[in-house]
Order: sequence, then C-alpha cells, then structure tokens
Amino acid sequence: MRIIKAALLGLGTVGAGVYEVIRHHQEQLQELVGAEVQVVAVLIQDENKEREVANDVLVTNDIKEILAIPGLEVIFESIVGAEPANRHVDEAIERGCHIITANKEMFAKHGDVLLEKARENDVQIGFEATVAAGVPVIRTIQQQLQLNKIERVQALLNGTSNFILTEMRQKQLPFAEVLKTAQSLGFAEADPTNDVEGIDAFYKIMILSQLIYGEQPEWATVDLKGIASVPEDEIYHSEGRYKHMAELKKVGNHVQASVQPVVIDDQHPLYSVEGVDNAVVLETSLAGTIMIQGPGAGSKPTASAMLEDFIHIFQTNKAAVLN
Ligand SMILES: NC(=O)c1ccc[n+]([C@@H]2O[C@H](COP(=O)([O-])OP(=O)(O)OC[C@H]3O[C@@H](n4cnc5c(N)ncnc54)[C@H](OP(=O)(O)O)[C@@H]3O)[C@@H](O)[C@H]2O)c1
Repeated sequence: MRIIKAALLGLGTVGAGVYEVIRHHQEQLQELVGAEVQVVAVLIQDENKEREVANDVLVTNDIKEILAIPGLEVIFESIVGAEPANRHVDEAIERGCHIITANKEMFAKHGDVLLEKARENDVQIGFEATVAAGVPVIRTIQQQLQLNKIERVQALLNGTSNFILTEMRQKQLPFAEVLKTAQSLGFAEADPTNDVEGIDAFYKIMILSQLIYGEQPEWATVDLKGIASVPEDEIYHSEGRYKHMAELKKVGNHVQASVQPVVIDDQHPLYSVEGVDNAVVLETSLAGTIMIQGPGAGSKPTASAMLEDFIHIFQTNKAAVLN
C-alpha cells in the first residue's frame, strides 16, 4: 500500500491530538485516501521534554532535518506565533509539501502570500483549524456558498471569552474568579491575554475576511476590545446578554470589521450560544441566514479539522491520479 509521509510541527495540545487521531484512525484513513499515513517526524522546541511518540519517529528542534526527509508529503503545523512558523511553512511549500495549519496568528499575517506560493508550487493549504477549530466554517464558505454573496458575518470566535461572560452572568461572579476557573478547566491559557483582549478573535475574523472578501481591512482601523473592558455590573444587570462579537461586512468598497463586547437580545441567533462554544452567523444573498456552532478549541476538535483537511487534500489528489 502507498505510504503518505507526514511531519508534525508542534506536539502540544493540538499536535499531540493530531498524532493520536492519526494513530487511532489508521484504517479509516487508509480507506478514505487509499494510503497508510505515517508520522515520520515532529518538530518541538524543548528536546528534554518527554514525548509520547513511537521510537521510529524523528523528534527534533531542527526544521532542516525534517524538510530533508525524502518523500515527505504533508506538514501539520501547530506551533505558536507567526515566526518561525511562517518561514517553516514557506520552505515546506517550496519543497512540495501540502500544509495543514491551526496557527491563526501566522495565517492571519501571512496566509495570502502562502496561498499564492502554494498555487505556484502545486500544493494545497488546509486552514480549517485556524477559525473555530472543529466547526466547519472555512469549508462551508469555500464549497457550499460559492454562488452566494456573504453580506455580513457575526461570530463568537473565542471560547474562553464566551465561557467567562456566561459564567459571570449566570453566577454573578467577578472576572478574576471566573478566569481562574477557566484556567483550571483548561479553557484558558496560563497567559490569557490573547483571549481576553480579543486578539485571538481578531486573527480569526481577519482570516475570514481574506477568505470571503479577498482582503483584510487595515488592522489599525478595526475596533478591537476584549471582555476585560466591560464593567462587571453591566454584565450582571444588563437587559440582554453580553457577547464577545467579531463582525465583518463590506460597506461600499471597504471591508469593515470589529471585535468587541456587545449586548444582544433574545431575538439574536447568538443569544443562546453559551459557555465555551463558538458560533458563526453568515448572512448570505441566496441561502439566507446560516449559523454554525460547536466547540471552537481543544485537542480533539482541532485535530478533527486538520484531519478533515488532510482527507480533502489527499482525496482530491487521489482522484487526479486516477483520472
Ligand atoms: N489549543 C487549541 O485549542 C487550539 C485551537 C485552534 C488553534 N490553535 C493554534 O494551534 C497552535 C498550537 O496550539 P497548542 O495549544 O497546541 O499550543 P501548545 O500546547 O503550547 O504547543 C505548541 C507546540 O509547538 C512547539 N513550539 C512552539 N514554538 C516552537 C518553535 N519556535 N519551534 C519549534 N516548536 C515550537 C512546542 O514545543 P515544546 O513541546 O517543546 O514546548 C509545542 O510542542 C497555536 O498556533 C494555536 O493558536 C490551538
């Protein structure tokens, strides 16, 4: 049977999830793509950490060793931050590898250039996991809404923020206490800045902007506020519900975006989206208003999005080979 050689860049929450899903779904993957999927290498930062990978997997902090592996076909990228992820992905594309990424900061900043480069090199980039993890927003837009114009997007793209706002309102608890609970439950990072300041949701809505409108607004023009800016009393006593809303629309020739806490009433589709869930409302020209909802973070949901991307890429390639 044909073997597809894969490397994982990053073996944290997401990378370890991808490794496990590949290991436990080998039979289904073989049926779906007609090949055995072999993880041959992982890129990490700290060589002294214990890793739960098979002995024959190369574990290294040197990307050159990985990109030199003969016949490497696909990279699953889940490291943190724009660099060095962007440089690694760029080099892997040049080497002819398909890319599947979960890294929203890297993709918001460099996705357009990387997609162009991938086209030139005849490889594909899957980036479903960069926005709302396992909730299939990207592919719904790419494949199911091609004739439709997307007139507006309203979305809850940060599970930590939604969890904190929900708990604060329901239990009338202070921000700091709920943040600690979120951290102890694994919903928030030790450093929660990107989540509670709205930066994580900002990157995601920029990726949607690029996908839907082919451009992003000037970053400095986007109203960006996190949930930490809302007075606690307002969250407890507001008539509606505070939600951390990312919004995107085209006004004339300009794309407008905002990421901020807003109050919505019970008529709004996002009103009942509570806890760690993400949801995206798409106002479309033909299909009407569509909402997609689900877990927007976590090891399994994110790995799910990455493996679905993998299957899509390799099924397309399999069909091309057979024709
Ligand atoms: N966690 C989620 O639910 C989620 C959901 C969607 C998207 N994402 C995105 O996925 C990415 C990974 O998130 P995560 O939660 O898995 O992070 P994580 O648990 O902190 O893991 C990051 C991994 O990347 C490695 N790494 C970091 N910097 C590196 C560098 N410069 N060179 C080589 N390896 C490096 C780390 O190595 P060591 O193991 O040696 O420290 C670790 O294995 C991020 O971009 C995040 O925004 C995460």
